[in-house]
Amino acid sequence: MFDNLEWISPDPILSLSEKFIEDRNPRKVDLGIGLYKNSNGITPIMESVKIAEKYLVSQAEDKVYKGSVGLDGYCNKIISLLYKDAPEIIAEERVTAAQTVGGTGAVRLAAELIKSYSPRRIVWICDPTWENHRGIFSHLGVNIRSYPYLNEKGEFSFDCMIESISKIPFEDILVLHGCGHNPTGYDLTNNQWMHLLEIVKEKRIFPIIDMAYHGLADNLNKDSYGVNLFSEQLDEMFVAYSCSKNFGLYRDRVGALVILGKNKDHCSKIKLHASNLARVNYSSPPIHGASIVNEVLSSNELYQIWAAELERMTTRVKGARKMLVRESSEQGCSEIFLGAARGEGLFSTILLNLNEIRRLKEVYNIYMLEIGRINISGINKNNIEYVVSAIKQVAGT
Ligand code: LMR
Repeated sequence: MFDNLEWISPDPILSLSEKFIEDRNPRKVDLGIGLYKNSNGITPIMESVKIAEKYLVSQAEDKVYKGSVGLDGYCNKIISLLYKDAPEIIAEERVTAAQTVGGTGAVRLAAELIKSYSPRRIVWICDPTWENHRGIFSHLGVNIRSYPYLNEKGEFSFDCMIESISKIPFEDILVLHGCGHNPTGYDLTNNQWMHLLEIVKEKRIFPIIDMAYHGLADNLNKDSYGVNLFSEQLDEMFVAYSCSKNFGLYRDRVGALVILGKNKDHCSKIKLHASNLARVNYSSPPIHGASIVNEVLSSNELYQIWAAELERMTTRVKGARKMLVRESSEQGCSEIFLGAARGEGLFSTILLNLNEIRRLKEVYNIYMLEIGRINISGINKNNIEYVVSAIKQVAGT
């Protein structure tokens, strides 16, 4: 049956990560996949997560099925975390959530709902965006188009973005990044969120906000500004939430599709449809990681430990960004790293072309995405000089 299959390119992010693991050269540097790395280049299990996990394992009595939308307690905790500064949304009972297989699963479930119930609407994704956005929507046969995020010089341009979004048809769907824009690291200011909201309202656009880096761009409160503002003012929207990065639970696949509706009935009905779509796709999401998040967010003591750990991670990423800016200025190649100076969160795009990026991998064992994205947290005191000088060499500056 599959005799005539053709070879296709593997996923650019996951396959790069595999290549990095296979690379035996001790000087190798991973600036590819979006994992938080500490100053020793390690992605550690968070202390709060270890404590909660140990406790849960000691208490576990069964591993029976849970429903298609996972743990209610976990979903409620994610809602409380996200809407800490917008409690009226919770009080009005117009938000609910479905636990999903990571943040990717949340985007996928959103795409399934769109495909099933509003197939003619166009989904507008950002250019550039996380590579899998395009993959998820197009794989389902949903119509996608893109809006620009950068100008011709590769700098973030709110004007370009707004000009394009203001021309999209009424009632289309807009995919936004809540914080820590992937891949550029450029986030909207509060004023820009407000401006964008006016257009979204006027055009009755349905937003899906991808929230994969909550707490890792600036802090938990500031990072949820856009989500809170939009949720306060709009009747309907989705948030695709991920606990991969802020809880370091990457392979446990912990996410949530947060569903905003007009009232309790409205969002419960959407959740029921989401539940049935989850059932026909994968039956139910894995419970282990979600139980850990639920435990951390339920205990005041664990919450404090987790929040402090997250803050330290974010501070380290900010420090690595500053280190990169300083080193590139000392080595006289700041212009390649202009994005790093202004962005937030794990990512930044640097000005190298495809050949230069491939040479960086082949000659210097430095791995970054071919779209020009680097993971800032892959940089540390031990490799900064090497990374900047290698990038300078390949760019021929
Ligand atoms: C990334 O952007 O590198 C991460 O979100 C990992 C992934 O699944 O692509």
